[in-house]
Amino acid sequence: MSMPVMIMHLLLDAWSGRDPGRVPEPDLVMADPAQVEAYLRAGREDGFFAHIYFFHVLQTSPLICPGDRVLDLACGPANQLALMARMHPQSRFIGVDASETMLQRARETAERLGATNIEFCQGDMARLDGFADASVDVIVSTMALHHLADFHHLQQACLEMRRVLKPGGGLYVVDFGRLKRDGTRNFFSNDRLAKQPPVFAQDFRHSMAAAFSLGEIEKAFAVFGASIQVHPTLIAPFMVAICTEARRTLEEAERLHLQQKFSGLTLAQRQDFFDFIRLFTRAGYPLACELG
Ligand SMILES: C[S@@+](CC[C@H](N)C(=O)[O-])C[C@H]1O[C@@H](n2cnc3c(N)ncnc32)[C@H](O)[C@@H]1O
Repeated sequence: MSMPVMIMHLLLDAWSGRDPGRVPEPDLVMADPAQVEAYLRAGREDGFFAHIYFFHVLQTSPLICPGDRVLDLACGPANQLALMARMHPQSRFIGVDASETMLQRARETAERLGATNIEFCQGDMARLDGFADASVDVIVSTMALHHLADFHHLQQACLEMRRVLKPGGGLYVVDFGRLKRDGTRNFFSNDRLAKQPPVFAQDFRHSMAAAFSLGEIEKAFAVFGASIQVHPTLIAPFMVAICTEARRTLEEAERLHLQQKFSGLTLAQRQDFFDFIRLFTRAGYPLACELG
């Protein structure tokens, strides 16, 4: 990814006065077997998303304490959830997804990766009926808000997250933000999608079009008050991270473990990682741990 070209696209997006509006996902819940399979593959150790999932594991680590009950909303095939659960074996994880097809794949992923501290349940992130008030220590949700039908459902999801999260609990939500220009979206999608199955590439484009605007995200998450920070990526909100402060300092052994995991990525994945994270770090959202 060329940084100068990326900056140019982001600047053009930021300067563009035209907001194209949101186009909701054609399939709010991911149940089509080909779509699910492509997404599952992208999240594996050798997949398109490996560097992004590593980023999420890194950034969530200081939010999760031993013994915590952690909820992953819209966990999908659990590639990311299983990595987090392996990183925190003394915590208990619950993966919620609306799609039973996804949950079947999620159970397989947890088994394949030996993550025994996860349970799964089918549910709607905008109606967490099975969860009592103040009953979870940490809530995580990645690449999922854009699947909600409309802004009202986004507000409902935020109210539900606030309801079930304990006071002082951790929150980590990351999703696409709405970009204004086709050219900027195409820059991000065309750069990396050529090697993906057509169904995945199509899904990626739908996801970017279904993203909520930064303003909508800020408005919906305002129910958390000053306990959260909203971090859009550099110049224009290709992605937006919403998170609470760290709840603890990482142990030296955990830092080493993360550094070893990072070293285990391929050269290309590490390059992808740095291309990706500088969009956040240069906008003021630092990495939870130096990677050497
Ligand atoms: C793009 S995937 C993200 C999966 C995972 N979080 C990740 O980062 O890989 C979005 C997931 O959201 C699920 N989903 C869509 N609407 C939902 C809702 N209202 N409640 C719970 N899950 C939902 C879909 O079935 C799909 O598995």
